[in-house]
Amino acid sequence: MKKADRIYYGGDYNPDQWDDKTIEEDMRLFKKAGINLLTLPVFSWARLEPDEGVYCFEWLDRIIDKIWENGIYVCLATPTTAQPAWLSTRYPEVLPVDIAGRKRTHGMRVFFCVNSLKYRERAAAIAEEMAKRYAHHPALAMWHVSNEYGTYCYCPTCQAKFRLWLRRRYGTLEELNRRWHTSFWGRVLTSFEEVTLPTELNDDYRFNPAIQLDYMRFVTDSTAECFMNEYQVLKKYNPEIPIQTNMSGYIKKLDQFTLTKNLDIVGWDNYPWPDDPPYFVAMKHDIMRGLKGGRSFILTEQSPNQQNWQPYNLLKRPGEVRRLSYQAMAHGADTCLFFQMRQSIAGQEKFHGAVISHSGREDTRVFRECTQLGKELQSLGDSFLEGCTPAKAGILFDWNNWWALELASGPSKDMDYLKTVSLYYETLYRQNIPVDILPYDAEVSGYDLIVAPMLYMTKEGVAEHLKDFVRDGGTLVTTVMSGLADENDRCIFGAYPGKLKDLLGIWVEETDALRPYEKNRMKLSDKLALAKAEYDCGFLCDIIHTEGGAQVLAAYGEDFYAGCPCATENSYGKGKAYYIGTQPEQAFLDDFMEMVCGCCGLKPICQTSEDVEVTLRVSEKAEVMFIINHGKTEGYIDFGTDTLTGLLDQTKLTGRMIIAPGDVIVARRG
Ligand code: GLA
Ligand code: ZN
Repeated sequence: MKKADRIYYGGDYNPDQWDDKTIEEDMRLFKKAGINLLTLPVFSWARLEPDEGVYCFEWLDRIIDKIWENGIYVCLATPTTAQPAWLSTRYPEVLPVDIAGRKRTHGMRVFFCVNSLKYRERAAAIAEEMAKRYAHHPALAMWHVSNEYGTYCYCPTCQAKFRLWLRRRYGTLEELNRRWHTSFWGRVLTSFEEVTLPTELNDDYRFNPAIQLDYMRFVTDSTAECFMNEYQVLKKYNPEIPIQTNMSGYIKKLDQFTLTKNLDIVGWDNYPWPDDPPYFVAMKHDIMRGLKGGRSFILTEQSPNQQNWQPYNLLKRPGEVRRLSYQAMAHGADTCLFFQMRQSIAGQEKFHGAVISHSGREDTRVFRECTQLGKELQSLGDSFLEGCTPAKAGILFDWNNWWALELASGPSKDMDYLKTVSLYYETLYRQNIPVDILPYDAEVSGYDLIVAPMLYMTKEGVAEHLKDFVRDGGTLVTTVMSGLADENDRCIFGAYPGKLKDLLGIWVEETDALRPYEKNRMKLSDKLALAKAEYDCGFLCDIIHTEGGAQVLAAYGEDFYAGCPCATENSYGKGKAYYIGTQPEQAFLDDFMEMVCGCCGLKPICQTSEDVEVTLRVSEKAEVMFIINHGKTEGYIDFGTDTLTGLLDQTKLTGRMIIAPGDVIVARRG
């Protein structure tokens, strides 16, 4: 596959909004800012195909040639996220039905049924027309299919397909009834034709989690098929060009491990909220890197300045875009792309940040910052492209688990999988220990530590997999709400944590759900020496019994279950399995995970001060370290006896170095 020889820098450009003079000026400004790739024409289907089968590509030919004359590459987007009005009007089946049963009308983008055969036919046709024309154009660096999939549709086509999907998955009606446990609330099915999609028409306040779960799997599969419909067409014309679709990040509604299985490279849009702490953004990047086994990904979008769709759209502070861009690359991105290059004159996003703002001027803070970043990226060349992260710690992450855990009614309405994962991620992040996010069935034998927060759903083989890992010397940390259900959300009899019981050496009798203002305490036993003897905990409290030699590390300090274990350790084969049966305060997690990491030999990449993030990417060419000071005060990094070369300024780096507030160092080892 065609490899990039540079960090692609640029992003979404919509030239069909601009006249020739503006486009000419844009080219000048792009070159000045070091822009080397433009993504287009994401939203131009109606212009490219004004009527069914009538194509009008001349304007696009001209603009692509112009871009290439200016030495800029193209990320060519199939414009299938916004179908033309004639398509929706002539074939209303293309339009989705929403959860309330309303047939939507034409007007919005990403407003189509992913299962509509007519949509797929026309999408494949325009993709083919584009591939015929441009698949061998020298400017073509990669394909970008559609834009941020994510429509949940409840139309008759989806209904019929869902029935087929279930038939294929479960074979017989008896099996479906068993899997969905339809005898509860008298929902027994006597024919596949009786299966309905879970909408507000048939359910209004408590969706059946098993049905909802399968529907979400079905939407993911349907979306993946819809993507592949175009992928296959594009591939036929030039298999060398990588194909991706820009995902709306780690979003919950599509299982992105499944969605990305067959595409060439993962692409995602990073739009952090102003209060998102750096570790949270880092984790999202790591999730994206995890989707294809640790391979690098494409940062398809971020805003060069404020957004417009948040309630309060803070300006990106000076240096913030630079920091966010390097953080993406630090965690596996090979590109740095923006939405958008020129601010649109009208429409829903007219106040969304852009490299070139409404002023059209180059003497703006944002343009200057983008230009500086462009220069820096040029100087980095291809040093870290396709570089991997050498992590020995992994966190299991699973979309089905996420859905099922949060679909469950009880024990607490505040169940938040992503947040729980992020608590454990944060502790490792703060210790500068690189982490890989892993699917539940990943090959884990190369890791020293696996953390499986709230592994609610133990799919077939997971428990065995984790047991093998620990037996062979690995360390596992898992938590409250683990081992409760199977892949269809049927609870496991014989006490939780179900299939993980003997691995952990415990059984859980009950789980208390605390209100936000309530706390309990974890009193450490003499088996666990941390900085403090007691820590707060809350949210959920498992009442645990140990069996078969597991050690009690901490017990509750309050309530009728005071004295019952809340954290345990079990030796299993050559390894250890820890269980944290509550949600401890952050200080406990920091101290506890530091102890665990110490025991399993995990070392930080480097020592740094609190707000300084450090990561490592190892490519064929180099070992590159990214050091980012997210703080407002001076920080440090200690390289020890290592000697590195700063790639942005060619300085030699060794020992303890100061890093200015908000600054970034990119350095090559050796
Ligand atoms: C998404 C879309 C873009 C644009 C941006 C705005 O990521 O893909 O087209 O709407 O959001 O932030
Ligand atoms: Zn549909």
